[in-house]
Amino acid sequence: MDKIKMAIIGAGLWGENHAKIYNAHPLAEVAAVCDLDVAKARGVAERQRIPKVYGDYMEMLKACPEIDAFAIVTPDFAHADAAVACAEHGKHILIEKPIATTREDSFRILKAVREHGVRAMVDLHNRWSPPFHSAWQAIRDGKLGEVQGAYYRLNDCKWVATDMLPWAAKSSILWFLGSHSLDSLNWLMGSRAKRVYAVSSSGVLKGLGVDVVDQYLSTIEFENGKIAQMENGWITPNANPCVNDIKFTITGTKAMITIDASNHTLMQQYGDDKMFVPDIMVKTNIFGAPFGFAFESIRSFVDCLASGEEFHVTLKEAAEATLGLLAVKQSAETRMPVEVDYGGL
Ligand SMILES: NC(=O)c1ccc[n+]([C@@H]2O[C@H](COP(=O)([O-])OP(=O)(O)OC[C@H]3O[C@@H](n4cnc5c(N)ncnc54)[C@H](O)[C@@H]3O)[C@@H](O)[C@H]2O)c1
Repeated sequence: MDKIKMAIIGAGLWGENHAKIYNAHPLAEVAAVCDLDVAKARGVAERQRIPKVYGDYMEMLKACPEIDAFAIVTPDFAHADAAVACAEHGKHILIEKPIATTREDSFRILKAVREHGVRAMVDLHNRWSPPFHSAWQAIRDGKLGEVQGAYYRLNDCKWVATDMLPWAAKSSILWFLGSHSLDSLNWLMGSRAKRVYAVSSSGVLKGLGVDVVDQYLSTIEFENGKIAQMENGWITPNANPCVNDIKFTITGTKAMITIDASNHTLMQQYGDDKMFVPDIMVKTNIFGAPFGFAFESIRSFVDCLASGEEFHVTLKEAAEATLGLLAVKQSAETRMPVEVDYGGL
């Protein structure tokens, strides 16, 4: 069987991880990479042994008809034009989360994928996280009885907004982490957000020169009547041992599950200044090969493309997460409850 030929749009931090994973997959190889900053694309191409380099994805689409699928790993707000162009060229796509940051862009992607008959997945990788996946399995097996409610905190330390993402002010913690949170809640609650009541606060990151909301607290009612509390912020002090702060509880009539996926005691590294908890469940390398659940979701895209099986995240579910987050944003801005508008989905 011929290997699936992949190309990557966006040769940043996460785009390079995509390249490593495809090249480590027995059924895939990376044939081309593109970045507006062509020097960056060239660097990734050299390190990851990618033969073709471009500075414009339209040029890449025209010059590389042999490519089967594209990974779109551009900033949160820059997924839709590339996704639509790939679909129009008949290419399958893996879009980094979130699917898009506007209603219009989400629907443009859905329409292009449907009309051109291509396959598409959004990398909402929390579904591959071992504790979250086990919670989902326990719910499916009836071990919790009837689920009643959940609490989910998924925060980042300040460094992510101030140093890691050059485009943080053009995105939001809702897009960067909230997309994972709401997708996981919809998935685990077996429903989707119906109405949200959210508040937000700002000032810490603005004081550090990043003009963006610090944190959101959202109360969510689901279509099946269950409830959840969701917290997303990026003002955790940088001394936090883990970049993420992840706490989760889900309560049913028979049992409850709690998850602390950040300050686990699996491994701690002690320096003179700081104790550090490496993200070894999320991503690491074992004898040079990428390993961890953040990589499993990307590998799964290739597996399902090769086997013809359904992806484990549908495009509709990814759009539902974005539409829910738009309601959170609106609720926080107006300080009023907002019904999620799924019209047209
Ligand atoms: N699944 C995960 O665990 C995970 C982790 C980090 C980031 N992400 C997601 O991956 C995406 C990229 O994040 P990142 O951290 O790699 O950002 P980054 O800034 O490191 O890289 C983005 C790259 O895209 C390039 N780019 C922007 N517009 C482009 C265009 N039109 N054509 C070609 N290149 C373009 C930029 O020049 C930049 O090099 C985001 O959506 C982010 O949310 C996912």
